Amino acid sequence: MQLLFPSLPLPPHTFLPTFTAFYGCHLPFLITPIVLFYLMVVLVVVMLLLLLSVHQWRHPKDKPLPPGSMGWAYIGETLKLYKENPNSFFANRQKRYGDIFKSHILGCPCVMISSPDAAKIVLVTKAHLFKPTYPPSKEKMIGPEAIFFHQGPYHSRLKKLVQASFLPSAIRGSVSEIEQIVLKFLPAWENTTLNTLQEMKRYAFDVAMISAFGHKQDKEINGIKQLYQCLEKGYNSMPLDLPGTPFNKAMKARKLLNETLRRLIKERRENEKQGGGGGLLGVLLGDQNQKVDQLSDSQIADNVIGVIFAAHDTTASVLTWLLKYLHDNGNLLEAVTREQEGVRREIIEANRRLMWDDTRHMPLTTRVIQETLRTASILSFTFREAVEDVEFEGYYIPKGWKVLPLFRTIHHCADFFPKPEKFDPSRFEVPPKPNTFMPFGNGVHSCPGSELAKLEMLVLLHHLTTKYRWQVVGDEDGIQYGPFPVPKKGLPVRVTPRNI
Ligand code: HEM
Ligand SMILES: *[C@@H]1O[C@H](CO)[C@@H](O)[C@H](O)[C@H]1NC(C)=O
Ligand SMILES: *[C@@H]1O[C@H](CO)[C@@H](O)[C@H](O)[C@H]1NC(C)=O
Repeated sequence: MQLLFPSLPLPPHTFLPTFTAFYGCHLPFLITPIVLFYLMVVLVVVMLLLLLSVHQWRHPKDKPLPPGSMGWAYIGETLKLYKENPNSFFANRQKRYGDIFKSHILGCPCVMISSPDAAKIVLVTKAHLFKPTYPPSKEKMIGPEAIFFHQGPYHSRLKKLVQASFLPSAIRGSVSEIEQIVLKFLPAWENTTLNTLQEMKRYAFDVAMISAFGHKQDKEINGIKQLYQCLEKGYNSMPLDLPGTPFNKAMKARKLLNETLRRLIKERRENEKQGGGGGLLGVLLGDQNQKVDQLSDSQIADNVIGVIFAAHDTTASVLTWLLKYLHDNGNLLEAVTREQEGVRREIIEANRRLMWDDTRHMPLTTRVIQETLRTASILSFTFREAVEDVEFEGYYIPKGWKVLPLFRTIHHCADFFPKPEKFDPSRFEVPPKPNTFMPFGNGVHSCPGSELAKLEMLVLLHHLTTKYRWQVVGDEDGIQYGPFPVPKKGLPVRVTPRNI
């Protein structure tokens, strides 16, 4: 397309007048065949200008942009990417152009990254050159001071705090609380047909709430739960802020949530002497004696809301796939059940509850979770943006371009995971090659909640496999995106007591 542009047969001296006519009010008087011809030429030129990114002109002569097509054909592909199987979208282009290729999605020029080494450069070794980027509407809804949106010192300060509250040493004490939540849900599921995704969301949400606020039952917690649900409904809607739109309702809920959280923060700060109240909120409130280094109420609120967001939809989507894969692979389900029965016997013999150390002795169940994370790859890719012109693996990436490490494509590459479409947990009997398995991302922005997510899955599977069986209702093998890929209709299942 760059070649096409200078070769247009356009006499330069006629360009300007036609251009003026085009924008002036003389149009009706000037429409002769020759003017019509030039009008069309101008139209084509303007469209080409719009389509060709301005950045392409600036690129240094010695380094080319990555291969790939930026043309208008791909505007339609943007929609496809969000509606269709992302596997084939990326796989086709990777085959054609290689591991690093350019494209155009959501109106942004971008570079797709589908090799482990290149993804490592973006996410780890040169992470400072690629900042996280989200649509402004999401930033507004979650809160601009939340961890996801930042780089540098503010980000690392927050990351340390968030990580501290989700390290194994911090969450090992919460196994019993998580188990209590599981034991609350399971009897309600017995002999009913349920929407797996919806129920898993409720479960993951309850776990996220105790992780965020601790187990202290403040009077605000119920209000927070309800407002959160309103917020979530509008989260993936069109960012159209008019009265009555889901987005507008969500933003209203966000404002109320802001106020409720502020009240809660104030109470917690006042009652500090009685022990902070625990959870992530407790950690973010920090040591009150160190007045200098405190986070503001807004910073705390945005991050608490952000972490609950990051924690529950993701975990719920993976849990839904877990139930699907175990349902479809009967032998695996029996093998997992035997492993869990072994753990169950030990617990009963010792007359104690499920503990952290038990969850470290579930090798097969753990591999099933890993393989689910790989196969489902619910975060197909992530977004970064080049903060300056970057030279990258022999290519040039202009400042402002989006850069997308394609987790799913890497997880489904036969070089690293032979027969990638097969659900085969035994492949994790040997650790995957470095940087090929990134369900929780990589580098400075990698997921601080990975251990909590896996713990939630292990605790649920422990009770579910030993006591129940589930039958998928309606044999649909489709996938829906909302926003993560999950089995169609959220996987309706009928749960029955297991015959022993
Ligand atoms: C199976 C469930 C989960 C999956 C698959 C998942 C995946 C991810 C991935 C891939 C990223 C990196 C995004 C990027 O680099 O752009 C991420 C970031 C993050 N996740 Fe998770 N996550 C899960 C559960 C959780 C949970 C339970 C929490 C709660 C603690 C959590 C909190 C976060 C936060 C706060 C970040 C942002 C970190 C930063 O920007 O530094 N996630 N997650
Ligand atoms: C929350 O309230 C504070 C102070 O009133 C304000 O500065 C902040 O922008 C609010 N945040 C949101 C997301 O509405
Ligand atoms: C569910 O059905 C089974 C078998 O029909 C029955 O034994 C069990 O008591 C039922 N459970 C509930 C909670 O109704």
